Parts: sequence; C-alpha cells; structure tokens
Amino acid sequence: MTQATFTPRVFSGIKPSGGLQLGNYLGAIKRFVGMQGGDFETIYCVVDMHAITVWQDPAELCNATREVAAGYLASGIDPAQSILFNQSQVSAHAELGWIFNCVARLGWMNRMTQFKDKAGKNAEKASLGLYAYPALMAADILLYHATHVPVGEDQKQHVELTRDIANKFNHDYGTDFFPVTEPVIDGPATRVMNLRDGTKKMSKSGESDMERINMTDDADTIARKFKKARTDPAPLPDTVAGLADRPEARNLVDIYAALADITPADVIAQYSGAGWGAFKPALADLAVEKLAPISTEMARLMADPAEIDRTLAAGAEKARTIAAPILAKTYDIVGMLRS
Ligand code: TYM
Repeated sequence: MTQATFTPRVFSGIKPSGGLQLGNYLGAIKRFVGMQGGDFETIYCVVDMHAITVWQDPAELCNATREVAAGYLASGIDPAQSILFNQSQVSAHAELGWIFNCVARLGWMNRMTQFKDKAGKNAEKASLGLYAYPALMAADILLYHATHVPVGEDQKQHVELTRDIANKFNHDYGTDFFPVTEPVIDGPATRVMNLRDGTKKMSKSGESDMERINMTDDADTIARKFKKARTDPAPLPDTVAGLADRPEARNLVDIYAALADITPADVIAQYSGAGWGAFKPALADLAVEKLAPISTEMARLMADPAEIDRTLAAGAEKARTIAAPILAKTYDIVGMLRS
C-alpha cells in the first residue's frame, strides 16, 4: 500500500528517572533544539509513565519531572515553538499503548536488548511495564503521527520496533493510518560514553558519579571529572582513524566536537599531537562555558515550580488536541464501539 502523506512532525522524550546527564543533553536535547523552528512541528515530552517501569519515589518523580522540563527550557526549547508536556497528563498515551500491546509480538519484545540489560539476571523480578515499555514508546510516537524521532543510538532498536508496530497495524487493518517513522541519529554524540570506561554508555544510573557529567554539576566538578577521566597514555592522533580502538580518547574528542558544534576531524586538526594535560583542561573549559548558563537557568526555573507546571499544562492541552482525533480514529479502525 502506498504511504499516505503526513505532516513533518518530530516527537521525542526523556525519562525523569534521576537527573539529566551530558549524554541526554548532547545526544538528545541539543539536537531537539536544533530541529525546532525549522521544517518540522516539534513535540517534546517528559515521559513520566516510562520512569515508573522501575521504582521511583513519588516526591522524587515529581521533582525529576520538573527538572527534565527545566532542562528542556533552559537549553532552548521554546514553548511558543514546540509542544512541551509530561506524558501522564495526556491519557491517550496509555490508551494507544494498550492497543499496541496487542499488536506487538512477544518474539519482538524478547529481542529488546535494553530490557535484557536493565532486567539483568533477575528478569523474573522486573515489572511487566519494563518489558512492555517499547510498545508504550511506539504509542508516544504514533499518537502524534510523528514522522521523525531524534534519539541517541541506544534508542534505535525501540524506534525500529515502532516501525514494525506501525507496519503490522497498517497491514492487519488494511490501512495506511500510521506513518513508518524515521529515527534521526546523527552528529558526533549519539553515544556519549562513561568517563571511567569508554566501552560503557554514560547514564544517570551508573555506579559512580565520576562516570558522568550531570547537567547540574558546578564548574569545579566538571573540571575535576574531565581531569580524572580515564584515557590511554598516547597523545591525540593526527587523523580520526587513529582514534579507532581508543574508546576513551574517541569519547572525549566526540564530546568536544558536539559541544563546539564542529566535527571530530576539526578537533583532531586543532589538537593533533597534544597530550591529555593540554586537551582535558580545554575540554573542561568548553564544557563549563556551554553548560554553566544552562545549569544556572535550570536552577532559576526550579525555584518557581508553579511556572513549570503551568507550562507543562499548556503543552498537554495542545498535545491532547493533536492526539484525540488520532486515538479516536484508531478506535474506529480497531472496531471499538463508542456509543
Ligand atoms: P532516556 O530517558 O534514557 O534518554 C533520553 C534521550 O537521551 C539519549 N541518551 C543518550 N544519547 C547519547 N549518549 C548517551 N550516553 C545517552 N544517554 C541517553 C537517549 O538516546 C534518548 O534519546 N525510551 C526513551 C524515552 C522515550 C522516547 C519516547 C524517546 C519514551 N518515549 C518516544 C523518543 C520517542 C528513554 O528511555 O530515553
């Protein structure tokens, strides 16, 4: 069946489980800001329903939801240009999520590497929500007929599952109602690595705080973390190819490139032959220059939680306007009687 034409529309989301780290900023938020005000309608979400797939203290969840919203706003997401809201305020996510639970196949879910990583050896004790989570993520995206989803590399498999769900729904019901969404995974920082182990992803749940840069870290902490970041003894190579098999070096070069809006090749051109004693302080200075205004603005916004709540409420209202007719039409297609 030929694809229907869809409005170019971006949807993406961030879980409010703990604070934001540099990977969220470079791999997601900074790129979301870049897609705003251009060819796409942009919808950005704080996905609180995803957060509770692992235990969250209720008061901390509320606070983290506001903090992620503050991170979006402080980084340049403008509620006049983008729709910004938290997921649980738009109940259609859960409703479409249920329909997609009935479309996704167990065999597909069993292949999800993030579930395996998160559930670990104790999968019997993981929540059913953690397992079903990618079907809810497909609902987040397809509820808005989003055509493009900017994400970091770790979410690629989930966007592929979203495409499988859209295709199966369209096929089973003989329709072209849902778009087959494109993942957008580009730039030098789609996989920011752990500062102590360049083979592991930087994440908010790592064991040691020294592994990551938090968006709320102060200048001294950022400098200390980069100074202590693990590296190999060799200086920076004279080509990007020379970074192969040097994961820690590659990571610091990629972070520098993403922060400075240049390519890794530009970084190498500037620093080839430099030792870490020169490169790490330059990287720390750059990170402080770029991140300090954001963390200061986040703190200012967090001092007025009612204002953040008003922004999220207004965003949820706009999101519901797009979501409601898409959910209603889905119910009609599926054959849900509504009298
Ligand atoms: P989450 O909350 O784990 O991460 C939010 C975004 O940040 C990116 N990211 C990274 N990028 C580069 N390097 C890293 N170290 C790094 N760590 C995190 C993630 O790839 C993501 O883009 N399931 C999603 C949230 C979600 C979603 C959606 C995303 C729910 N529904 C619909 C897109 C569309 C998640 O857990 O992201």
